[in-house]
Amino acid sequence: MQRKNLVIVGGGSTYTLGMIMSLIEEKEHFPLKKITFYDINATRQEIIAKAAKVLLKEHYPELESFSYTTDKATAFSDMDAAFVQIRTGGLAMRELDEQIPIQHGVIGQETCGAGGMAYGLRSIKDMIELVHDIRQYSRDAWILNYTNPAAIVGLALKREFPEDKRILNICDMPIAIMKSYADLLEKDVWELVPEYFGLNHFGWFSKILDKQGHDLTDDIKNKIINGDFLPTDKEIAHDESWIQTFRKARQMLVDFPEFLPNTYLQYYLYPDDLAKKESPDNTRARQVINGREKRVHELCDHIISQQTTHDINIEADIHGVYMIRAAASLVFNWKETFVVMVENNGIISNLPDDALVEVPALLTSHGPKAFSVGEIPTFYKGLIESQHAYEKLVVEAYYENSYNKLLQALTLNRTIVHAPKAKGILDDLIDTNKDYWPELN
Ligand code: G6P
Ligand code: MN
Repeated sequence: MQRKNLVIVGGGSTYTLGMIMSLIEEKEHFPLKKITFYDINATRQEIIAKAAKVLLKEHYPELESFSYTTDKATAFSDMDAAFVQIRTGGLAMRELDEQIPIQHGVIGQETCGAGGMAYGLRSIKDMIELVHDIRQYSRDAWILNYTNPAAIVGLALKREFPEDKRILNICDMPIAIMKSYADLLEKDVWELVPEYFGLNHFGWFSKILDKQGHDLTDDIKNKIINGDFLPTDKEIAHDESWIQTFRKARQMLVDFPEFLPNTYLQYYLYPDDLAKKESPDNTRARQVINGREKRVHELCDHIISQQTTHDINIEADIHGVYMIRAAASLVFNWKETFVVMVENNGIISNLPDDALVEVPALLTSHGPKAFSVGEIPTFYKGLIESQHAYEKLVVEAYYENSYNKLLQALTLNRTIVHAPKAKGILDDLIDTNKDYWPELN
């Protein structure tokens, strides 16, 4: 296999060190010649990069080059693939996205509801600029984008770059859920074949098969209903918030037994319960700042001061492995199945063509080839159509500088519904996002 050049955009992210460990573990699947980090925040990136350098030196000696930069030309020239994980406004803005809706009595969440809309309007601008920059230096590189809120960012990228077939919007939630199914069944996650439909952070598994074609769906449902459903990937297995989130899948399945839900549906199906539990002093952003961010930075400090990783367990995580294998499938034309986001165009036959649906697809060197889903039942169709309308309105509002479309979007959103509430939240978000959002009319 020919060795490839990878760029990680958002090198300073708290996920990057885990990605490096995953790249080390997966080097036979995705052999690399060069890894480059790019970030706009040099200081934040340097901590991660200095630790990554030690890791790579010890565990990836065949890598010819590792570097980190804030210069676009250096980063984006001579590359085969980019993993894009930027967070416009950082965790500080995530905290505000989550606090403001809570102050109005509704859910404050990174990608769902009003917080997701605020984040989306910030991300669109930077993502469009970033893709233009990458394309200036690398016309054919694969761009795997998992910048959130992926549903909104993905729609905006489709609108801005309709002819660009080498941007893939992808999310790790379906595979993280499948990892828990696999552990319930005592199987390897890569042995499971999903049938899945919906939008990003808004979908359902209609079936889980194994590679021999056995249907495992009822077995999984029974195990969830009669037991406990928990996160099992090492990144989230011990995280109280993720434990509670996975547990909620049981209630969703009891209430709506037809399909296995994505965990994010809890925010849309039980908005009152979830809103009641939240507090502005203990947002998820705050938990991440005091938890994952601190942990990762301490680990980096340790590696940098020791200049060795001999006392550290190199462990891939499901997020990293998923992105790496998806990239390898595109680059090496493996034609393996991954759940990804693609323009609907009839895949789910009773949904609009322009929806960005999340479905299983073969990843080939000519891009994703999605399997047809057919018609979905009325309840799911109704939910998805309204969520799609919300996402579409946010993207239109961005391009048209439309206050009114944002108000419509928030009113449509199941986490809000009440128009005066939507207006109050929107006005507060405009204040906090004035350095990031487009000017609204
Ligand atoms: C999952 C989702 C991502 C999201 C992340 C948030 O991995 O697929 O889209 O960003 O969870 O996790 P956190 O631990 O930061 O709340
Ligand atoms: Mn996601």
